[in-house]
Amino acid sequence: MCGIVAVTGYKKALPLLLNGLEKLEYRGYDSAGIAVINSETKNITCNKTEGKLKNLINNLNDKNIPGTVGIGHTRWATHGKPEVKNAHPHVDSTGTIAVVQNGIIENFQDLKNKLEKEDIIFKSDTDTEVIPHLIQRELNTLSKLKLENNGSTLLVAVRNVISDLEGSYALAVLWSGAPTSLVVARKQAPLIIGLGEGEFICASDTPAIANFTNIILPMEDEEIALLTPLGIEIYDSNNERQYRNPVSLKVSEQIIDKMNFKHFMLKEIYDQPETAKNWLENYLIKNSENGRYQINYPFDTDFFEEIERVDIIACGTSKHAAMVGSFLLEQFSGIPTNVYFASEFRYSPPPLLPNTLTIGVTQSGETADTIAAMDMEIKRRSSIDDKKFKPNLIAITNRKESSIGRQVSKIIDICAGIEVGVAATKTFFAQLLSFYGLAINFAQVKGTKSSNEIDQLISELINLPPLLEALIDKHNESSKKLAHDFFNIKDVIFLGRGINYPIALEGALKLKEISYIHAAGYPAGEMKHGPIALLDKKVPVISIASPGEVFDKVISNAQEAKARDSYLIGIAPECNGTEIFDCLMQIPSSNEWVTPLLNIIPLQLLSYHIAAHRGLDVDQPRNLAKSVTVE
Ligand code: M6R
Repeated sequence: MCGIVAVTGYKKALPLLLNGLEKLEYRGYDSAGIAVINSETKNITCNKTEGKLKNLINNLNDKNIPGTVGIGHTRWATHGKPEVKNAHPHVDSTGTIAVVQNGIIENFQDLKNKLEKEDIIFKSDTDTEVIPHLIQRELNTLSKLKLENNGSTLLVAVRNVISDLEGSYALAVLWSGAPTSLVVARKQAPLIIGLGEGEFICASDTPAIANFTNIILPMEDEEIALLTPLGIEIYDSNNERQYRNPVSLKVSEQIIDKMNFKHFMLKEIYDQPETAKNWLENYLIKNSENGRYQINYPFDTDFFEEIERVDIIACGTSKHAAMVGSFLLEQFSGIPTNVYFASEFRYSPPPLLPNTLTIGVTQSGETADTIAAMDMEIKRRSSIDDKKFKPNLIAITNRKESSIGRQVSKIIDICAGIEVGVAATKTFFAQLLSFYGLAINFAQVKGTKSSNEIDQLISELINLPPLLEALIDKHNESSKKLAHDFFNIKDVIFLGRGINYPIALEGALKLKEISYIHAAGYPAGEMKHGPIALLDKKVPVISIASPGEVFDKVISNAQEAKARDSYLIGIAPECNGTEIFDCLMQIPSSNEWVTPLLNIIPLQLLSYHIAAHRGLDVDQPRNLAKSVTVE
C-alpha cells in the first residue's frame, strides 16, 4: 500500500528519495511523486506521475533539483483514481506546504466542506489534500501569536491538525517557512526513522532506509516527530517528549535482491527450503536430558494449560495458513479452534468465551483489519474484571518490529526474511510451520498425543528441507510446461479436503492474484452441491489427493469432475488411484499431517509460470498491495 519516504540532511534529497521509493515499490502502488525544498530560495519543487516509478524517474529526466530536504510517495488509490492530480505530494493553495500520507482520513469530507466554505479550492479527489490546507490555516493562526517560522512551529501546527483527523495515517510534511525541517506523524500506519550521520530518513518500511543507515527508531502509534539535520524530537499523543534507544536493522530486513531470478516470487518460492531450515534452527531444540526435540518459542507455554479454545484472526493468505493451523490445533492437539476473517471479526465478533487464546496472523504485521480486530479483542477482554476472560494473545508475523509486534508481547517471528513479491509464498510456508510448532506445544501441554506421535511429526518437519529442494526443482520444469498449455484458460477449480482444503483455497488465490484468471477452491465433497455445474472441458480441475483418511473420497470427487470432461491435474504421490489424473504433479509420500507443506509447492509454481507466461507483472499485480494498511 502507499509508501512514504522523507529525508532531511546535507546530501541531495532527490536521489535518496527515488532510491527509497524504489525499495517501497513492492508494497503496491499506481502513481508516485516527490517534493523537494530548496533551503536557499525556499521553493518547493513537486513532481508526480501516474503508473510506475520509472515514469517519475523519466519525467524528472536528470533535472537538477537542488535541495536536501524532501518527501516522496508511492500511492495506492483509495479516494480518487490513479491520476496525476491525485498523486502525492499534495500542496496547499500557497504552494508552501507539501504533504504525503498513507492511510485514510475518514472525516475528510466534513473537513473539505468546511475548507471549501472558506474558499479553499481543491485540486484533487483525495482525502489527503485536506491536510496541507488545514496546516496552512493553522500556521496562519499561529503566525498571529507571533511564533517564529521554524520546525517547532510546524510541529505545533501539524499536531493541532492531526487532532482533528479521524482514521489512520502516516504522514510527512514540508514547509517553506522551515526549509530544513520535516514533521512526520503516525496513527495505525507504520513509520520508521533511520538515523544517519547528520541526516535522517523516515519511511514506511525498512528497505527504504537500509541503503542509508542500519540504525532505526520505529515510531510508536500516535507519535509525532520533528526531524532536522541536527536531530530528532519525538512526542507522544500527550505531547510528552519521548526518549528511547535506537535499534539495529537485521540483515534480513535490509536485503532486497532478486539474485538471478526473473521475479522475486520465483526467488521466494526457491527460498522455501532455507525458510524451513531457518525456522527449524530457530525453534527446534534438543532436550539434553531425554535427547528428544521440542519446540522452543520465545515465551513460556505454561499458560497453554488453562487455554480451552483458540480464535485466529487473519486475512488472505494468512487466513489460509490459519485454517491449516486450526485443523492441526483441533485434530492433532484437541483444542477447539475458530478462524475469522479479520474484516468480519471487527464488526461481528463472536460472544466472549473464557480461557481463550487469540492468535493474530499477518506476515506484514500491518494489515489494518487484523490490527484493528486484535485491538478490539484486547479492549473488550481487558474491560472484563474476571481473569478467565483476560486477553491471551500470540502474533505470528514476519515483522516483529511492526504494529502487531508492538501490540502483542508473545510473538512467533516466522523469520522468513523480507518478502517482496505481493503474492505471499515463503511467508505462508513459515506461517504454516509456526502452527505446527503451536500444535506440537499444545499436544504436549495437554497430553493429547503420545510422545511417539509428536516425535514422528517433528522428524517429518526435520526432513523437509531436502524434500522441498527436490520438489521445487522438479516442478519448476513440469509447471512451466503445464503453464504453456493453460495460460489462456478462463476458469480453474481447486479441490482439497481436510487439512488440504485450505491449500486448495491458497492455490486458487495465488492463481487469481497474479494471473487474473478466475479460480475458486472448494472442499472436494462440496462440488456436487453446486460448483459441479461449472464444469466442462474448458474448466480444468486441480485436485489435491494426499493419502490418508479422505484419499478415496477425493479420488471419487475427481472422478465426478472427469465425468464432466474436465481436464484433471492431480497433486498427489504416485499410488493406486492417481492414474485417473490427466496430469500428475507428483509429491513425495509423507505423513498426512505434513502434506500441506509439500502440496503448496507445485501450486505456487504453476501460478507463477502461468502469470509469467502471460507476460504479467508477477511481483506487483494490478490493484494489489503487499501490506494492506487501510480498511
Ligand atoms: O500481511 P498479511 O499477512 O496480513 O496480509 C494479508 C493479505 O493481504 C495477504 O495475505 C494477501 O492475501 C496476499 N496478496 C496473498 O498473496
